[in-house]
Amino acid sequence: MTEQEKKERIIKSRELIHWHKEPFDSDQKLQLPQPPLVKEPMTGELIPLPMNFEDLPMCDDFVKIINGRRSNRVYTQQPISLLAFSFMLWAQQGVKGIRGNNYATLRTVPSAGARHPFEVYPLVLNVEGLKPGIYHYLPMKNAVELLKEGDPADEAFMADVKTSVRGQAFALKASVIFYYSITQYRGEWRYGFNSHRVMMMDAGHVTQNLYLCCSALGLGGCAIGALDSDLCDSMIGLDGKDEFCFYCMPVGTVSSDNEDAEQGFYAFLNKK
Ligand SMILES: Cc1cc2nc3c(=O)[nH]c(=O)nc-3n(C[C@H](O)[C@H](O)[C@H](O)COP(=O)(O)O)c2cc1C
Repeated sequence: MTEQEKKERIIKSRELIHWHKEPFDSDQKLQLPQPPLVKEPMTGELIPLPMNFEDLPMCDDFVKIINGRRSNRVYTQQPISLLAFSFMLWAQQGVKGIRGNNYATLRTVPSAGARHPFEVYPLVLNVEGLKPGIYHYLPMKNAVELLKEGDPADEAFMADVKTSVRGQAFALKASVIFYYSITQYRGEWRYGFNSHRVMMMDAGHVTQNLYLCCSALGLGGCAIGALDSDLCDSMIGLDGKDEFCFYCMPVGTVSSDNEDAEQGFYAFLNKK
């Protein structure tokens, strides 16, 4: 890519962040049918997740939880409990109620116009009581469905997982990698060409809640924005157009003994 082409691409990308003022009739205003609030189950075989979150051992000092929020990239590869797994999913996308006559979901995170344009696909590597593989979270029921088994001992499968996060090998030692897709039309129906701007803002709330869960539960995670969307889509089975994967976050068990190794990820700062 030439420098000129690079500059043009940057200007185009900046456009995404503007709120465009030109008046237009959104599909909502045109009274076109509203897209479903959540994606339908993909398999029909649901695994309900426990919700007795009061039994989870976790820090309840809010200041400590916020202050302890950080990225961790060194995982000790211990299993995480099904209850912790369930809590992390609920905290990111759990549905608490419905607004109006099926107009919107009210969730544990905010979303512009309450559109909640995301689906979560946890890749389970080491969670008690679940087969390893790619699951789909059903936020209305706090349940998951297994889409595809995936053995962490299968080198070809793990090679794909590594490529999906553009070679960031630390993710492979996580107990679970939460992949997020965006279902564009949920936002576009209401906000048209301004939707992409606010949908990206929404995504930050989802992973921030996950970061805070990690801090409270003594787990570690690291948001990953640099991923291979096409490969993620084919791993999960998404069309890559109306719905595609755009973000993920591995979460695993951590130990304070590994702080030097954690800091090793910033060793480039010590180089001239
Ligand atoms: C949207 C987003 C994308 C990120 N992508 C990556 C990534 O691809 N690889 C990575 O190692 N860290 C990634 N991070 C983590 C940041 O590098 C990290 O938050 C930052 O260095 C600050 O460190 P802290 O989270 O420990 O405060 C990402 C964070 C966010 C919010």
